[in-house]
Amino acid sequence: MKMWSGRVSQPLNANFERWQRSFRFDWRLLPYECVASRAHARALAAAGILSSGELDQIVNALQALEGRVAPGAAPGEPSDAEDVHHFVEQQLVAMIGEGGYKLHTGRSRNEQVATDLRLFTRDAIDELRAQLFALAGALCDRAEQLGETAMPSYTHLQRAEPILAAHWLLAYPQMFLRDAGRLAECRKRVNVLPLGSGAVAGCSFPLDRRAMARELGFDAISANSMDAVSDRDFEIEFLNALALVAVHLSRMAEDFVLYCSVEFGFVLLPDAFATGSSAMPQKKNPDAMELLRGKAGHIAGAASAVLLTVKGLPLTYNRDLQETQEPLFAAADATRDALRIAADFLRAVEFDCDRMHQAAASGFLNATAAANYLVRKGMPFRRAHEVVGRMVRKCLEQGCTLESLSAAERGEFSELLGEDFPAALELGCVIAEHNVAGGTAPRQVKAALAEVRASLQQLQEASFAHA
Ligand code: ARG
Repeated sequence: MKMWSGRVSQPLNANFERWQRSFRFDWRLLPYECVASRAHARALAAAGILSSGELDQIVNALQALEGRVAPGAAPGEPSDAEDVHHFVEQQLVAMIGEGGYKLHTGRSRNEQVATDLRLFTRDAIDELRAQLFALAGALCDRAEQLGETAMPSYTHLQRAEPILAAHWLLAYPQMFLRDAGRLAECRKRVNVLPLGSGAVAGCSFPLDRRAMARELGFDAISANSMDAVSDRDFEIEFLNALALVAVHLSRMAEDFVLYCSVEFGFVLLPDAFATGSSAMPQKKNPDAMELLRGKAGHIAGAASAVLLTVKGLPLTYNRDLQETQEPLFAAADATRDALRIAADFLRAVEFDCDRMHQAAASGFLNATAAANYLVRKGMPFRRAHEVVGRMVRKCLEQGCTLESLSAAERGEFSELLGEDFPAALELGCVIAEHNVAGGTAPRQVKAALAEVRASLQQLQEASFAHA
């Protein structure tokens, strides 16, 4: 039986009937629908609307239903349910008879779906935060293993200054920790209970909303029933946070795509994450990283889809809001899978440290250090820049390096270029010079690594206590 059969006299157009159903995707809300329904049943009983016998029957039936469906799997039984709310009602009635209908007293699917979606999003946030921490942890491990291996940094994708490879890898946990912070912020606004809002105007029975909130782990109850049944800000905020996660993953993936090419050769693609070409037998392609890069389009698209669905909707509930579910589920799934692949890839990837070192030691990456040498001897940087620029030009003509110029050759450029000049241009020296907090000097990188690990530890403990 439809949940609204009294009002209409004709059956639905068969195509429309199929088309408007949401059970095909909203079965994923089933565990949330069950716990939220249980809280509602208890509130009805406390308000004297259900007898304690009726309450027991309903609670037991909901528990049985929850237990019957494997977590994360669609319910096995064939169903003509319109949506997950209808499905639960059908199952209850099948289990306990007429009493099953009593659950739908003083409530509306409008508040139910808002509640279920908040519970889903809250769980997704907790899971994704744990995955962000795991990925950041994997990056820390690899950074630590790289020790003092040097590599070039890039600006404009041109070689810039030499850095520690660990410094490069440790840039990413910063992004992922910000992402986790954004999700934690978003969680505060997600964790507000809509139940008790009724269809639009608030429940007509004296339900204890705070008791329902406590039971379901919500920190607060919504303040306005009209807002509560029509608000999807929390989805949009969550999806935008995911879009940034995906963008960060795409940038990291792109670094790996570049660095595993022969042109860079810093990274050895693990066989377990590479594919071949059906046409070119010699090829090994970084598909894992390319797909990771590509996911950003799909995930950011979900954020736009929901934002545009909500735009211009009159208050309050409108069926359009059903369209926000699929992008929400798809983006949460895609982000979860992408984070898992990224962490697995990072654990498996190998680095060609010699090649990185060579690239950092050539190509005049110590030119800035040469100018800084002159600055320390008293020359204004602008002049020093000019002098070193001319020196580089000469070296390019002669096919030599700045540090291999003889004392006499150096002397033609500036008498400030002393005996200690070649030593100051050694790779280790150049890197160690960047000795400010956040810089690439080995002691700074070591401190940064320890700091990231400490934050991770703290965050993991805090979210464990939370869950
Ligand atoms: N499947 C619906 C949705 O996702 C549930 C709410 C239906 N409410 C209604 N008044 N038709 O939005």
